[in-house]
Amino acid sequence: MSVTKKEYARRRTTLMGLMGVNSIAILPAAREKIRSRDTEYHFRQDSDFYYLTGFDEPDAVLVLLPERPHGEYVLFCRDRDPAKEIWDGYRAGPDGACEKFGADDAFPIDDIDEILPGLLEGRERMYYSLGRDADFDGRLMSWVDGLRAQASSGAYPPGDFLDLDHLLHDMRLFKSAAEQKVMQRAGEISSLAHRRAMQSCQPGMMEYQLEAELLHEFAVNGARHAAYTTIVGGGKNSCILHYIDNSEVLRSGDLVLIDAGCEYKGYASDITRTFPVNGKFTPAQKALYEVVLAMQEAAIEAIKPGNHWDEPHEVSVRVATSGLVRLGILAGDVDELIACGAYKKFYMHRVGHWIGLDVHDVGDYKVGEQWRVLEPGMAMTVEPGLYIAPNDESVARKWRGIGIRIEDDVVVTKTGYHLLTNAPKTVNEIECLMQEVEAIENFALV
Ligand code: GLY
Ligand code: MN
Ligand code: MN
Repeated sequence: MSVTKKEYARRRTTLMGLMGVNSIAILPAAREKIRSRDTEYHFRQDSDFYYLTGFDEPDAVLVLLPERPHGEYVLFCRDRDPAKEIWDGYRAGPDGACEKFGADDAFPIDDIDEILPGLLEGRERMYYSLGRDADFDGRLMSWVDGLRAQASSGAYPPGDFLDLDHLLHDMRLFKSAAEQKVMQRAGEISSLAHRRAMQSCQPGMMEYQLEAELLHEFAVNGARHAAYTTIVGGGKNSCILHYIDNSEVLRSGDLVLIDAGCEYKGYASDITRTFPVNGKFTPAQKALYEVVLAMQEAAIEAIKPGNHWDEPHEVSVRVATSGLVRLGILAGDVDELIACGAYKKFYMHRVGHWIGLDVHDVGDYKVGEQWRVLEPGMAMTVEPGLYIAPNDESVARKWRGIGIRIEDDVVVTKTGYHLLTNAPKTVNEIECLMQEVEAIENFALV
């Protein structure tokens, strides 16, 4: 279950078809980033670069040249270097780039200044994502300027500069069968991790200890890294949307909100679950939880081809508002409350985002002024939430400091949707799972 060499080749061919003849696309790979003196963050390839190559090394540049007789797919990469490889690991080198990654032509990255201007020469349109890497932007402009300076001697520099993102990100929005399989596995692994967190949670643990349980489950299942920094927020920390300190103690009687997903073979998953630290919801927690669950169920049901991007969100807003009125947290007419956005104090984010190689994946949400219409192969999260600020004196005390989000990943199918994630979700499923563990522990004590 992987994206094959053939699929990478198909993607490049599709992109070159969209670019047309007399064009060139240039994409630099990600760079290594220093974390602190002499140590680096674990390398993560640029998603666009990876999507088109499957090549996982830094210091590389991909060049696509539709209908170039000597080869359309050119890769610049680090040369082999036995001395450096002893320290930092093996490199494909230009030969490996051709043999293993299907490049038509490959050159050492150190030769790019001599070779790239020659590839640019004579191409009318240049596709490039400007503004992501200031250094590379500057180098590219210097190669173009060099050609302009030689125009009087017959050099022909590109004249049209176009945004590569526009074409490439629309391709990435539609997930192939192979991508969906990988994302399904990512979703399964993350679901196992949330289950493990529920099973290991005990009052008195630190939030980061629960984080450790999740990361452990990711890694033992083949997903070495999280797709984003794990959020474990107990009690009032659950009301901080991007809480990543994870540094406080988990208390009996509180809920804990965990937003965590692994990255598997480059693809993200993104799950949130909220559950009681001691395994049993209080009546207030349960009442609010049921509203968020109903929001999510209604939003998921609104995912099908032909519906537009905003419909699941609109549905979730309606269910949220009527639920908040029913619980006495909001007062008034549901339609009027929706019209004036009264729910936004408690539900301040949108219901989801595209997901894929990036957790907040690429792709336009609108086409012109209109919300995008859903089509098979699009993958998204569905993550409604309600958060009652700890100091909100406009609501009864029992609700304050409760934050709940429930998040799953789905892919649009021909007839509706397919869920990629399956962690325990109903009050009953969560309580049963957590009490099962307690029963086993009590049994072990007798
Ligand atoms: N984990 C980031 C998000 O849910 O969007
Ligand atoms: Mn999330
Ligand atoms: Mn998300």
